[in-house]
Amino acid sequence: MTPAAAPHLPVLLDACVEALAPGPDRWMVDATFGAGGHARALLAAGSPVLAIDRDPSAEARAAAIMDPNLRFVAGDFRELETLLAQADVPAPHGVLMDLGVSSMQLDEGERGFAFRHDGPLDMRMSGRGPSAADLVAELDEPRLAAILHRYGEERHSRRLARAIVAAREERPIRTTGELAEVIRAAYPGGPRRDHPARRTFQALRIVVNDELAALEEGLEAAARALAPGGRLAVIAYHSLEDRIVKHHFRGARRLEPCTKRPRTASDAEIAANPRARAAKLRVAEKRSEAANDPREERP
Ligand SMILES: C[S@@+](CC[C@H](N)C(=O)[O-])C[C@H]1O[C@@H](n2cnc3c(N)ncnc32)[C@H](O)[C@@H]1O
Repeated sequence: MTPAAAPHLPVLLDACVEALAPGPDRWMVDATFGAGGHARALLAAGSPVLAIDRDPSAEARAAAIMDPNLRFVAGDFRELETLLAQADVPAPHGVLMDLGVSSMQLDEGERGFAFRHDGPLDMRMSGRGPSAADLVAELDEPRLAAILHRYGEERHSRRLARAIVAAREERPIRTTGELAEVIRAAYPGGPRRDHPARRTFQALRIVVNDELAALEEGLEAAARALAPGGRLAVIAYHSLEDRIVKHHFRGARRLEPCTKRPRTASDAEIAANPRARAAKLRVAEKRSEAANDPREERP
């Protein structure tokens, strides 16, 4: 970890606790454990908690909490029902998904998530499957451009894809620093508010971890797994994620959205934790009559 690495501060913590109403005998699932900021608050309110993270390094952080009310399983929340059974946990009254990457993943250069820290171009949360370097080396130019456009919402996707292909013909792009420099050099226009590589890195990270499909499947799994009247709270950090959550909550037969508009962070929270700036929290409740409905989640 870099010396300047900041601890991960849980985002919209009070709003999440209020939405999930933890308490004794009310099982909570923190499906994105990370550093356990949200899980600790749920435990402090008296709930037993099942912590899930697809990043195996989270297990040591869960063990360090040393709370007998906390169980941890490494896995993808798209397999929520299997993970619940594996941990022998009953239908939960709350499920939290705090999406994206943690500050630790961003700050550890060797995980390869961040354009600000040089390291191998990796980006795999689980450490398994093809890395970002594999994608950058193997995808053809149109496919690269399509990924940057679709998952990074990058306006200059074709120009950047061309630059990546030209650069890798000179020599392989193996590090985050090398990719960030290729993007910076190719990016049109003058100084910008954010780093020109931000959207490219977001796009590659989404594809490497299959994040949007995992979210769709995770939402469906949570809707099936929750106890009647249980709550699902999801914090999204970009419009692609938030759109999926919003549409899912509106269309799901088992869920009733609790609020029309998402909760966002206060100015004070954003000042203390800039990650909170983009956060949008949406909450839905499992309909009681849907509890034993054997049909599929969507018509
Ligand atoms: C934003 S961090 C969560 C931070 C946490 N709420 C806290 O307060 O410390 C997101 C975490 O979710 C994990 N994650 C992302 N997608 C996942 C998935 N599909 N299944 C399980 N864990 C996932 C990441 O590995 C990361 O550790």
